[in-house]
Amino acid sequence: MLTTRRVDAYHALTVVAPGIAERYRPGHFVSVAVGGPGTPMVTRRALAVHDVKPDYGGTVDFVIAVSGPGTAWLADRRARDTLDLVGPLGRAFPLPRDPVNCVLVGGEYGSATLFGLADVLLRRHCRVDFVLGAASADRVFGALRARRMGETATLTTEDGSLGLRGRVADVLPGVIADVRADVIYACGPMGMLRGVTAVGIEFDIPVQVAVEEAMACGIGVCMTCVLPVIGDDGVTRMVRACAEGPVFRGERVRFDDIGTIPFDALGAPGGGSARNVT
Ligand SMILES: Cc1cc2nc3c(=O)[nH]c(=O)nc-3n(C[C@H](O)[C@H](O)[C@H](O)COP(=O)(O)OP(=O)(O)OC[C@H]3O[C@@H](n4cnc5c(N)ncnc54)[C@H](O)[C@@H]3O)c2cc1C
Ligand code: FES
Repeated sequence: MLTTRRVDAYHALTVVAPGIAERYRPGHFVSVAVGGPGTPMVTRRALAVHDVKPDYGGTVDFVIAVSGPGTAWLADRRARDTLDLVGPLGRAFPLPRDPVNCVLVGGEYGSATLFGLADVLLRRHCRVDFVLGAASADRVFGALRARRMGETATLTTEDGSLGLRGRVADVLPGVIADVRADVIYACGPMGMLRGVTAVGIEFDIPVQVAVEEAMACGIGVCMTCVLPVIGDDGVTRMVRACAEGPVFRGERVRFDDIGTIPFDALGAPGGGSARNVT
């Protein structure tokens, strides 16, 4: 570990991890062991890669929101502590072939994933506009950087303490129209991704979402992270967010059925086969 610092409501960690830095593509995550030797916290925690830099052979940045014992332990790490990381994991954001107009939408610390993506899109001569939101000003991550990197950066907070009062999905239609968006990339809480996807469907533009589904192994073995996703053949399958995701086409994710196995999903108890799906 190189440095830890406070960034508003979050903790930012920089770790020397050349192997991860080298193979990273935007949207990737890692799994990290927490609690140290002998800990009862047996499962690894998933963390999105925020940034990679060439310093010290390759460093990786993470942004942490403390939400329980594992993330609290991570937030307490200090320079020179060692972290046990596995990664990069998951499927990265697909990139457009042509220089198109991209709106990057981030909720809370989900924005952290979007800056590496913005870098790559800008290098491909895409236009990048940001819409970032959170409950309050101290939970909007990366506002300054978004202003620097994006053609525009629209900020929202639910309490009105920064930017416009409301949620990202409220302002998104206006941004899409203003910038003539071709594609939306989004990362944040599931409710936000559902709202952003609904706007994308309304405007008939593709939405790529990076979902945050509860995970245990992070490598496709335990099935903790499954969610219902509609495949190219129109059939819903329970797919693993860690292996087939975390990035999905938003309109393919059955947001309303997350946490359940829909009756028409392939292999669902009491039904669900490819034959009985029309
Ligand atoms: C792909 C992905 C990327 C993520 N990126 C970040 C990030 O950049 N920064 C950050 O702060 N958090 C991130 N999270 C959420 C983070 O993994 C959880 O907040 C964390 O695992 C909670 O652990 P805990 O011990 O603090 O809390 P607890 O709630 O006590 O966790 C108990 C168990 O549930 C699992 N769990 C609980 N909430 C989540 C959750 N939201 N997602 C996944 N597993 C969960 C934990 O892994 C653990 O096994 C990400 C999650 C995923 C799936
Ligand atoms: S977290 Fe174990 S299969 Fe995805």
